[in-house]
Amino acid sequence: MKKNNIVLVGGGSTWTPGILKAMTTHLDAFALNRVVLYDIDEKRQEVIGEFAKILFKEEAPEVEVVYTTDKEVAYKDVDFVFCQMRTGGFDMREKDEKIPLSLGVIGQETCGPGGFAYGLRSIKDMVEMVKDVRRLSPDAWILNYTNPAAIVALALDKIFPKENKILNICDQPVNLLRSYSKLIDHDVNKLEPVYFGLNHFGWFTHIYDETGKDRAPELKEIILKGGFRPVDAEQRDQSWLDTYAMVEDMLTDFPDYLPNTYLQYYLYPEYKLSTSDPKRTRTDEVRAGREKNVFAECRRIVENGTARDSKVVHNDAHGDMMVEVAASIANNLRKTFIVMVRNDGIVSNLPDDSMVEVNASLGSNGPAPYAVGKIDTFYKGLIENQYAFEKLTVEAYMEESYGKALQALTLNRTIGDAKKARKVLDALIEANAEYWPELK
Ligand code: NAD
Ligand code: G6P
Ligand code: MN
Repeated sequence: MKKNNIVLVGGGSTWTPGILKAMTTHLDAFALNRVVLYDIDEKRQEVIGEFAKILFKEEAPEVEVVYTTDKEVAYKDVDFVFCQMRTGGFDMREKDEKIPLSLGVIGQETCGPGGFAYGLRSIKDMVEMVKDVRRLSPDAWILNYTNPAAIVALALDKIFPKENKILNICDQPVNLLRSYSKLIDHDVNKLEPVYFGLNHFGWFTHIYDETGKDRAPELKEIILKGGFRPVDAEQRDQSWLDTYAMVEDMLTDFPDYLPNTYLQYYLYPEYKLSTSDPKRTRTDEVRAGREKNVFAECRRIVENGTARDSKVVHNDAHGDMMVEVAASIANNLRKTFIVMVRNDGIVSNLPDDSMVEVNASLGSNGPAPYAVGKIDTFYKGLIENQYAFEKLTVEAYMEESYGKALQALTLNRTIGDAKKARKVLDALIEANAEYWPELK
């Protein structure tokens, strides 16, 4: 089996330790030669990089581990790029969340005006990353998790239309599947989901077990009777528990399919607004929780010189999925994953150039998506509206267009009013002056 050289972009991310841990436990499936961690923040990178050195020395000493802030080192001779950067960091995420809330609309990392603002920041760095990688490693696979993945995926598809080695992925379908598997007490590896939509905007139509039986009806019944909690509830902050609980509301109103949790922001924007605190948002929770814990744990490990007693893995599903996706491509396993791909007729009544999130078999030639066919009016209407928002957001970036930005925000279901959209846009322009193109 070929041993891969990989680079993790956003090597100082809170998710990196979990991904590295998953790499050490999947070496039979995804063999490694060299792991490079790359970040623009030297301090964050050093803490996680030193942890990585200890982890690999103990678990896989044959793998070379390097950490760097030099992209010329990072992107050279790479087989796989795992990308999970956050342009502007948590300081800007906080603004994405709090500025809209201060103006009476919800702010969220990937949804509504928060996702819009983050999208306009991410595109620039992502385009630069793709160009740098192509200069130094023309054949590398680029696996992207950077959010807002829907907007990033669409922008990269428009800006690099000939690229066929960039894949955008989200872990939320896998997170949900793990939680479903607990509800019906069934091995998650034996469940086969069928899914359609846009990223953070989709539905499971079926959850087949190994006998071919669809377990979705049973799952809906269980959730409607007893509510829904994530499988890793003890590790979750209150806002995530509230988010999972909203699945019951969504199923009560729209019982056809099992919804992605992110749909709550689009279906119940007024309720979400009324239960949000403009002074304390998800960023405050992440800083006090995941970020603090991950960095404290990595520092502790570095001080002790061993990771053997490490509790650092925060979300197994995330790391496992990232490595399994890479393994499926590297070794042409053709396993099925839920990924983002250009529609091109997969959902036959949605635009060809939308980036849909659907099942695909993943091999060395990339994703081979499964056809979905026609979707019903309610889902088509919601998706077309959201896709128009995403497309206008990308066009606003590419054309530096204030008009398109205003159209995008006006269309977004979390806002739905042009005067509010203008207020939010103007405030976000001011806050993002350092990061956005100048919208004219
Ligand atoms: P984080 O801020 O802890 O980590 C991001 C890191 O990226 C930081 O260390 C930062 O310095 C670095 N960075 C910023 N700009 C960079 C650039 N241009 N080049 C290289 N590095 C850069 O954030 P986090 O919460 O760990 O999340 C990281 C990213 O992963 C976010 O975009 C998040 O939304 C995304 N994510 C996506 C999924 C998914 O389902 N697709 C799941 C989890 C996390
Ligand atoms: C889910 C989503 C990701 C998101 C992550 C963390 O896994 O799929 O896109 O980045 O949650 O969100 P948080 O609010 O905990 O940083
Ligand atoms: Mn996601």
